[in-house]
Amino acid sequence: MTDTSSRFETLVNPPQEIFDQLLKWSGETEGWSFQATDYDFWRDAYDGYWFFAVIEKESNSFVASVSLALLAPENEEPLYSIGMYYCRPEFRGNGQALEIFRKALAIVGDHNLTLWGVVDLSPKYASKFGLDKVNDCWHMCTTIKMIHVNLDVPISDEYQTKGLNEVDRQKVHEFDRTVCPKTRNRLMDRWFQCPQSYTKVVFDKASGNIVGYTTIRIMLKRKLSVGPMYAMNKAAASRLFHDVLVEIPEWRMHDDICFLHAASNADVTDLVSEYSGGRFESKEFMRGQYTKQFIPIPHQYVYSISDCAHAIV
Ligand SMILES: CC(C)(COP(=O)(O)OP(=O)(O)OC[C@H]1O[C@@H](n2cnc3c(N)ncnc32)[C@H](O)[C@@H]1OP(=O)(O)O)[C@@H](O)C(=O)NCCC(=O)NCCS
Repeated sequence: MTDTSSRFETLVNPPQEIFDQLLKWSGETEGWSFQATDYDFWRDAYDGYWFFAVIEKESNSFVASVSLALLAPENEEPLYSIGMYYCRPEFRGNGQALEIFRKALAIVGDHNLTLWGVVDLSPKYASKFGLDKVNDCWHMCTTIKMIHVNLDVPISDEYQTKGLNEVDRQKVHEFDRTVCPKTRNRLMDRWFQCPQSYTKVVFDKASGNIVGYTTIRIMLKRKLSVGPMYAMNKAAASRLFHDVLVEIPEWRMHDDICFLHAASNADVTDLVSEYSGGRFESKEFMRGQYTKQFIPIPHQYVYSISDCAHAIV
């Protein structure tokens, strides 16, 4: 066996340029699409954050990564999440990725851990690492090419949207708790500040209650990502989708827009179908899995989760 130990090095929370290399590689080989500033977001917003990267020392080139975040709200069980598990194709099969995955697991210890397992790896996470409390359905990646988006769709006038700054933030957090079983006020406040992000809150005009909110983000690789979109019904979701999209400057210049949602929520594909005249793609992508305790999510209100690296919803 060749001794590779002097050629490679494992770094924890390395400089941004290593994270940027991960985004470049994973974008090319897997089609992953994030923002370069997500690294700052995870470091700032979580109660603990470790980005493990294997690099080739001489060239300072990225080889493999895994990202570990800790959400530890007061008086709630801490929850760790793993994301950005990636290895450049030419280095796969050498055990380097698995080694940093194990380093992350060592930090987690006996606490609850979650990740979004992609279709190919999901059974392995369950059998090898005890991530066997799994969601009963897959999360779909549903994409509309922007040339197929037609905003000329009838929308109910029972709902109205407002910009985030016109709304009592505490009420937004209260609504968030109806969808997300963990308290994450600070985290979402930081999320709303991410650059290239457009957020609106939707109200039921009759009751004055918040019935949803969405953020649409401009990602690398000319993509838009709906993340998150929560709504109590499809009509409120439709209002949100329309009102946020038109606010994004030159939204038509992007290649496509993507939703990540549970297969069981047929309202998402209905909505997407309405706005695309049936021209969209939807494929099984991943599912939520946990080690200790499964955290159920009200999928019927989730039109798109916020972030497939570390968010549970
Ligand atoms: C997932 C990935 C990082 C693993 O890297 P790798 O170099 O292939 O894995 P290693 O050489 O370190 O490990 C070798 C073995 O452990 C398995 N393995 C690696 N990481 C694992 C994990 N976290 N859980 C379970 N099994 C794992 C591999 O499949 C392989 O098993 P096999 O010999 O039975 O086929 C790499 O395949 C990759 O980048 N894939 C594309 C991105 C992706 O899908 N990431 C996962 C997102 S959830």
